[in-house]
Amino acid sequence: MKIGIVVGTRPEIIKMAPVIRECQNRGIPYFIIHSNQHYSEEMDSIFFKELELPKPHYNLGVGSGLHSNQTGNILIKMEPILIEEKPDVVLVQGDTNTVLAGALAASKLGIKVGHIEAGLRSYDRTMPEETNRIMTDHISDYLFAVGPNQHAILLKEGIDPSKIYTVGNTVSDSLFQHLEISAAKSTILNDLELTAGDYFLVTAHRASNVDIASNLMELLHLLDEMHANYTGTIVWPIHPRTQSKLKEFNIELPSYLKLIPPVGYLDFIQLQKHAKLILTDSGGIQEEACLLGVPSLTLRENTERPEAVEVGASELVGRNAEKAVKAAKKWLSAGKVSWENPFGDGHVAEHILDILTNTRNIEDEEKIV
Ligand code: UD1
Ligand code: UDP
Repeated sequence: MKIGIVVGTRPEIIKMAPVIRECQNRGIPYFIIHSNQHYSEEMDSIFFKELELPKPHYNLGVGSGLHSNQTGNILIKMEPILIEEKPDVVLVQGDTNTVLAGALAASKLGIKVGHIEAGLRSYDRTMPEETNRIMTDHISDYLFAVGPNQHAILLKEGIDPSKIYTVGNTVSDSLFQHLEISAAKSTILNDLELTAGDYFLVTAHRASNVDIASNLMELLHLLDEMHANYTGTIVWPIHPRTQSKLKEFNIELPSYLKLIPPVGYLDFIQLQKHAKLILTDSGGIQEEACLLGVPSLTLRENTERPEAVEVGASELVGRNAEKAVKAAKKWLSAGKVSWENPFGDGHVAEHILDILTNTRNIEDEEKIV
C-alpha cells in the first residue's frame, strides 16, 4: 500500500501530521504533496519544523489567487505526479481548495480517495468550504467521519454506507501529542506579558467576516463591546487574509487589542489553554478550544461543528455584539466549566491506517463509534 498525502494550508499540516507520523511508524510507503496554498513562514514551514515533519516530496508552489486559479493549478500540477507515483490511495483533510483539487486529481485518474473530516456541513452554500466539502465527499472512496452526526449526514446524502468510517478527528491526536511539549517549550505568555486565565483570544479569517468592510467593522464593534464590558487584554494573532483586508479598507485598530503575527502551534496551544475565553471563526480552533476545556464564542451564524455547541463548550454569536457579551457573561460567572469531548480519542490516525491497511476489527469499530 502506497499513500499519497496532500496538504496545503496551516490546519491541513497540523491535522495531517499524525497520519504522516503513523505512516512512518508502520513503515508504510508514502509521499507528501504540498500545494503551497499557504506559503508564508508563519503559516507553513513553522509547522513542519515544530511537528517534526519531513519536507514535502513535491511542492506545487500555487500560492494565493482566485478560487479557479488555485484549484486549477493544483489539478494541473498534481496529475503528472500521481501518474508517476501511482499511489493506492490519496488522502486529503478538511475543506480547502487544496482538498477539492487533490481529491479531484486522484479521482479522475481512478485512484482511491480518502477524505479525513468527511461529512461536515454548515448548510451555508455561500462558504467556499461547503462546496469543497460536499464535492470531495461525493468523489471519495473512504469517508473518515468525525462522529455520529457526520455519519448520519453522509448516509442521508446517499453515500454508500460501506465507504463511511467513524473515527474522530485527527485534531485530537495533534493536540494531545503536543500539549506537554508546548507547555515545556512555549514562552509566549511571558513574552506577551499575559496572565494565565486573564485574557481573551481572538482569531478571524472567514471570507464572510473579513472580506466585506462593513462586516469587518461589525466584528471590531463586537470586540469593542467585549472590552467595554470585561476590560482585560484581547490577544489577536492575525491571519494574513485579515491583515491584508485591514490594510485594504484602511481600518485602524484600537490600542487595547494586542495584535500579533500568526504564531506557531506550540505557542498557540498555550495561548488557547490559558485564555479566559476564545472568540473565533476558525474550524480547528472551535475543536481545540472544546478539547482544552476553554469556552468559545463562534463568530459565525452557523457551524459545521455543532458538537461544540451541543456539549455546551461554545455558542454561535455571529458578529452580534449583544449576543457575544451575554454569552461571555454566562461562562465568566460560571467558575470552572467542563463538558464531554466529541472530537476524537487522540488515536484517530491509527484508526485511519488500520482501515486503509485492513487491520481494523469489529471490536475497534464498537469502541470508536
Ligand atoms: C484558506 C482556506 C480556508 C481555511 C484557511 C486556513 C480555501 C477556500 N480557504 O483560507 O478554508 O480555513 O485557509 O487558514 O481554501 N496569505 C498570505 N500568506 C499565506 C497564505 C495566504 O499572505 O501563506 C494571504 C494572501 O493575501 C491571500 C490570503 O491570505 O490572498 C488568503 O489566502 P487563501 O489561501 O486564499 O485563503 P485563506 O483565507 O488562507
Ligand atoms: N493556529 C496556530 N497559530 C495561530 C492560529 C492558529 O498554530 O496563530 C492553529 C490552531 O491551533 C489550529 C489551526 O491553526 O490547529 C487552525 O487554523 P485556521 O484557523 O487557519 O484554519 P481552519 O481551522 O479555520 O480551517
